[in-house]
Amino acid sequence: MAGQLAEAEDVPAKAVPLLVRAAEAAETPDAARAQAVIALTKTVDPGAWRAVLRALPKVQATKSENNLAEKAGNAFHNAPKLDQVHGVFEAVAAEADGPASALAEGAVLRLASRKVGAPEARAAANASLDAGWSQPRRRLQILKAAAQVGDASRAAAFVAALDDPDPTIAKAAKETVGRLKIDPERFRAESRAAKVGDLAVEDALAQVQKTSGDATRGAQLFGQVGCNGCHTVRPDEPLKGPYLGTIATVYQRRELAEAILLPSKTLAQGFVANHFELKDGTEVDGFVVREAADAVTVRTIAAVEQTLPVAQIARREKQQRSLMPEGLASGLTVRELASLLDYLEQLPGAK
Ligand code: HEC
Repeated sequence: MAGQLAEAEDVPAKAVPLLVRAAEAAETPDAARAQAVIALTKTVDPGAWRAVLRALPKVQATKSENNLAEKAGNAFHNAPKLDQVHGVFEAVAAEADGPASALAEGAVLRLASRKVGAPEARAAANASLDAGWSQPRRRLQILKAAAQVGDASRAAAFVAALDDPDPTIAKAAKETVGRLKIDPERFRAESRAAKVGDLAVEDALAQVQKTSGDATRGAQLFGQVGCNGCHTVRPDEPLKGPYLGTIATVYQRRELAEAILLPSKTLAQGFVANHFELKDGTEVDGFVVREAADAVTVRTIAAVEQTLPVAQIARREKQQRSLMPEGLASGLTVRELASLLDYLEQLPGAK
């Protein structure tokens, strides 16, 4: 039956459960497994496609007669209804677990980069890859799958991954970039010019670490972006947010960049934002500098100190999020962010 349906135009829904069993059962002969896979690729049944993803790697691992293994691979890649089942590929790829996920990842990459087919499937595939790229296991899987299916459409990200802090990922990126004949220098130049906000945080961190900027430009940006509204860099200025004059003695370049890109990931000690509501309705936001039995001293981000008598406080609350907004660096290029870091690293107190 698998042999007949592998040749048939359409596969009746009734036959799907049997074909799934044939594709998956350990005792199915290699040829029949390949034929069942070919038949199942003609359907839009999610269960059928999950079976295809699990069975095709087994088919490809065997030498079946009449090129059946190769035919099954082609049937998978060229299935006319691929974009109707894109959700299955995204779900299985997201599991990032074994050969079925790897195969699904290849399908997601091809759906994302092709110029034909349903725009909705293309958008979903791209969203899946964007989300996946931020997770190390999935990043590794995407890199390997791209080399496997020969898809270089995400070349800039692959080049960025050459500098991945995880050596396994950096190694896979090197292989993929080599296999796909991507010229890293071209993309490095491009990505230094890329806006930080258009890159995944991981990629921005990796890139900025490898890029040197210009500290003088960094000093301008420190004012232009508004860092100086909340931070001081000279010890004689009244403290606002954390003092950054010596910050580069405490943080490595990567940590510095991370503090800027993900301000709420960890909060600098003593700079947890507190929100106070007084009995007269006044609201005060700031850092607690002194805590006495009868009064709390609060310093606002504008360096204004205020003492709030405990008897007047109606409500107080610690914020989980940093007072430093996210996305401050989104509009900067990687090189500009590098310049900002160079500036912080070259402050007199930081040496
Ligand atoms: C609206 C106020 C505000 C602005 C604007 C601001 N920051 Fe911050 N920043 C803070 C606060 C508050 C903290 C402490 C809480 C935290 O760790 O996020 C902080 C923390 C930091 C830290 C970590 C300090 C430490 O000791 O851990 C760095 C580095 C930093 N900011 C750099 C910058 C740079 C560079 C800019 C400009 C691109 C900037 N900040 C803009 C308020 C601000």
